[in-house]
Amino acid sequence: MKFDIDLDNVPVHVGIIMDGNGRFATAKGLARSEGHKAGAETLRRIAIDAADIGIKYLTVYAFSTENWKRPKDEVSGIMKLLYKYLKDWDKYIGGRHVRIRVIGDISDFDPVLKKMIEFVENSTKKETELTLNIALGYGGRNEIISAAKKMAEDYKSDKLKLDEVNEDVFSKYLYTSDIPDPDLIIRPGGEVRISNFLVWQSAYSEFYFTDTLWPDFTKENLLEAVAYYQSKHRRFGGL
Ligand code: FPP
Repeated sequence: MKFDIDLDNVPVHVGIIMDGNGRFATAKGLARSEGHKAGAETLRRIAIDAADIGIKYLTVYAFSTENWKRPKDEVSGIMKLLYKYLKDWDKYIGGRHVRIRVIGDISDFDPVLKKMIEFVENSTKKETELTLNIALGYGGRNEIISAAKKMAEDYKSDKLKLDEVNEDVFSKYLYTSDIPDPDLIIRPGGEVRISNFLVWQSAYSEFYFTDTLWPDFTKENLLEAVAYYQSKHRRFGGL
């Protein structure tokens, strides 16, 4: 392996903005849907690699609130892909003990896909090797607004007092309430921005950007990102 990592200091929670599927397909003269297919395959591989090196939580940005604005065909293609992977998850993950959770607002998703999500979440909920959080219908600002609304309701019904509100309490109202903040966020695909992903949770995360397109992302890229994290990692109390 080109990138030696310290297995005792692996980031507990890694977030990935899976970008570059469209460009991957276009460069090969293929339809964008082929890029998403290749991206889903990369996610399967990288989830196994993440489990192998001891990452406990992997959160991937699979469908943002903004993605609803894409052409209808592309949106329905991504939805079909999600259904297919979730349905056969056991087969894809090769016997690894992965818990699947979805974070985001899936209220506008097709009821059949919603049922499948519920089924996979329930049937994997006892798995502890790796938790794979799939962000769907997700937007960080939206998440913060819905947390604020839930807090306002609890305040109104006297479940929450104003002087009890602090960062920890606020965090409990987010989709990630029982998940530690990400230590490392990886963005392949060449863009250098957060794009509304884990906006609150990434306040102290390390960021790793690479030009590699998501479908081309390999275990070597993951190890390089972890090595980068380890070279930067500061203990609590730093900035
Ligand atoms: C961004 O690439 C990618 C997406 C909007 C979709 C990501 C979805 C998957 C990888 C499939 C998820 C599957 C499962 C099983 C969770 P882009 O289309 O913006 O690429 P571009 O910037 O090159 O156009």
